Amino acid sequence: MKAADINVMAMTDTRAAHQYILGADDSEHARLLVQWEIYRSQAERLLKHLGVSSGQRVLDVGYGPLGVLDLLSARVGPTGEVVGLDNEPRMIKFAERTIAEHGLTNVTLVHRDAASTGLPADYFDLAHERLLLINVPAPQDVVTEMVRVVRPGGWIAVGNVDMTAWSCEPAHPAWTVLFEALIAAWKAAGLDPFIGRRLPALLRDAGLTEISLDAQARIWRSSDPYHWLLLTFIGIFRNRIINGRFLTADQLDRLAAELQEHLAQPETFVIYSLSFQAWGRKPA
Ligand SMILES: C[S@@+](CC[C@H](N)C(=O)[O-])C[C@H]1O[C@@H](n2cnc3c(N)ncnc32)[C@H](O)[C@@H]1O
Repeated sequence: MKAADINVMAMTDTRAAHQYILGADDSEHARLLVQWEIYRSQAERLLKHLGVSSGQRVLDVGYGPLGVLDLLSARVGPTGEVVGLDNEPRMIKFAERTIAEHGLTNVTLVHRDAASTGLPADYFDLAHERLLLINVPAPQDVVTEMVRVVRPGGWIAVGNVDMTAWSCEPAHPAWTVLFEALIAAWKAAGLDPFIGRRLPALLRDAGLTEISLDAQARIWRSSDPYHWLLLTFIGIFRNRIINGRFLTADQLDRLAAELQEHLAQPETFVIYSLSFQAWGRKPA
């Protein structure tokens, strides 16, 4: 079976849950395109290291507006096959547009849940995900499914942040309180904001071998869009934070204004979440 033959309509599961916690509006689309740029070189290094090359069949799970579809497409070339899978209808619309803009003709999009893709078993040379596992309550199920669809000897690669290190310098009480409220709301949604460090264990528990781990640290200044990401997330999580009684609306707004001012100071910089990547091989 060729992935190019996978009928996209047939693979569209209208029951697929689309409860992506960060939403799918235009601002999230724009944020994910910024993120795509930020993670581009780290992703490219990993794909090179894993030997992704001409003619291979590769899968990107939870691709958002683009994910690594463009990098995969360039690497596997016209004789290769790229499948992107996401369960959020608006992301699929965004991706269709971006794929057309980038002229990626070897990419097929599939609308399914990452834990039950309906894709053929033992098919792909590589299954990749980035920043999906931190957004799902049962990450092991997604990894298990990625392993199922990869051929024996193929690679599974996962990339997620671990928010532990996320802080600002100089420290500020508004950051501390807002960060703790965000973490509490993230966890209350059944998600793990510290999943980065768990990636090797998730791969090990899925039966993979040759597991490796890498992490990248990043620093943001006020001209970098991600310098302001905590405030962006506080906006997205506002209702969850207030409804979960982690902060009142007044507290949240006052702290956000204080933090805005602090982050705008020329000497303030942000130490970002560690960006972990882990990869392992399906036993032959
Ligand atoms: C943070 S975005 C990451 C996008 C892209 N991988 C990147 O790194 O730029 C997470 C993506 O996972 C998708 N997603 C969330 N839960 C999913 C699930 N259960 N099945 C499939 N996709 C899911 C969301 O719709 C969103 O596009």
